[in-house]
Parts: sequence; C-alpha cells; structure tokens
Amino acid sequence: MRKQIAAANWKMNLTYQQAEKLLDDILDAEIEMKPDQQTIFAVPYPYLIMAKSDIEEQKQYAVAAQNCYSKKSGAYTGEVSIEMLRSINVNYCVLGHSERREYFAESNTMLADKVNLCLEFNIEPIFCCGEPLSIREASTQNDFVTRQLEESLFHLPAEKMKNFIIAYEPIWAIGTGKTATTEQAQEMHAHLRSIIARQYNSELAETVSILYGGSVKANNAKELFSCKDVDGGLVGGASLVAADFIEIMKSLKQ
Ligand code: PGA
Repeated sequence: MRKQIAAANWKMNLTYQQAEKLLDDILDAEIEMKPDQQTIFAVPYPYLIMAKSDIEEQKQYAVAAQNCYSKKSGAYTGEVSIEMLRSINVNYCVLGHSERREYFAESNTMLADKVNLCLEFNIEPIFCCGEPLSIREASTQNDFVTRQLEESLFHLPAEKMKNFIIAYEPIWAIGTGKTATTEQAQEMHAHLRSIIARQYNSELAETVSILYGGSVKANNAKELFSCKDVDGGLVGGASLVAADFIEIMKSLKQ
C-alpha cells in the first residue's frame, strides 16, 4: 500500500515553548504506526531543529518545512534555501500551500522551480493544489487542479514522481470549518490519480500519496481517510491541539 500520512501544518502559530509542549504531548501518546503510515510535522523554520531532535530517529515521524525559496542561494534577505534545510536534515517541504499562492503570489512556474530544487537536494515536496470557491461553483475544479499539476509537476521524469506526495486542499474548506464531503474528496483524488496515470502510467499513479486538507478534524478524519484515494490529511487548526491530532493520526487507513 502507498504511504498513509497524517501531516500537521502548524502555519505561523505557537511560541517555541508551546511548540515543544505540543510535540511532547503527541509523542508521549506513543501511537503505534504501521510501516506504511507516517506522521509529518510542518513546523515554523525556527523550530525545525528542536522538532527534529525531539523525534530522534523514530522512522514513523518526520519534520517538514512549510516553504523554501525558489533560488539556490544568494542575496535574498529573509528567505530560506533548500540547501539550508538539507544541511539540518529536513526531509520534507510543503510547497504551494494556497496561503503562499494567495498572499505571496506564488505561481505554478515558481513552484516548478521549488519542486526541482527540493528534488535536487533530496527533499520530498508535499505539493499542495486546490481550487477557490468561485472555481468550485463554476464546476471547473478538475481543469483548475489539472493545470496546477501540469505546470508545476508534469515536467518531472517518472522516477521522480514515484511515491510523490500531493495534498489536495480546496481553498473554500481551509480554516473555514467547511469540509469537503467524502464524495467531493474522493472524486477529486480519483481525478488527480487519473491525470497522473495519463501523464505517466497507472502503476506509478498508485504509488502517489494524495492527502486531503481543509478542516480535517478529529470527528471527520476517519470518514475522509476511508475514501479509496484519500491517503491521509494535511491538517491545520486541529493539529494545534494534541488530543485532536492524536485522534487524526489514529484515523489513518489500517
Ligand atoms: P485547516 O488547514 O485544517 O485549518 O483547514 C489546512 C491547511 O491549510 O493545511
């Protein structure tokens, strides 16, 4: 089975002390995870080393950066390079979150550069896609996300797309308490898998983990994750409460 993932996206929340406590509370719960299940914590840059050392070598846990810059290095004050992340052994990086696209004008082509850099430095991207409400209301969401993948990912050779991680996050469901129905989630995830199969092949498409994001909560995670093509979640708000996130981790497909 492809990897089932519970990914926490802390966004720009928590002080260092709060972050340490939250992580400790989750790790102390000692949730047993199967070899094909994983929990990833996308934490703010200044907490990466702390989080990394807290989880030690436990294979079922990993940390992710929430972003990186699209250039290798140089005079880009305030930015963080992928090489810096590699040098502190970060293995994952969230790319193209809708908040980055909306507030920091990240385009599909800029994201293609970031994807390339991540792969060059052996960091696995968690690539986010998803449509705004107006697109969903016009029923053109499939075309919209197809374009996001075409312009940011489909230049990659097949071996780089194998085991890739994508997060489908309908923007209208992020932080709104409005979750996609299981039918909407499954339909989009199946669509994403089908376009990957069309571009590459269906065997490869079956290895891609497609996470759902957008108001995943302790009380709806199990139902969402039970959908055939939903391989876990990227969780914002509910990942800031230890008990809720623990419940979400336990909701991954067995
Ligand atoms: P949410 O955020 O769970 O608070 O809706 C999800 C995300 O933006 O990754």
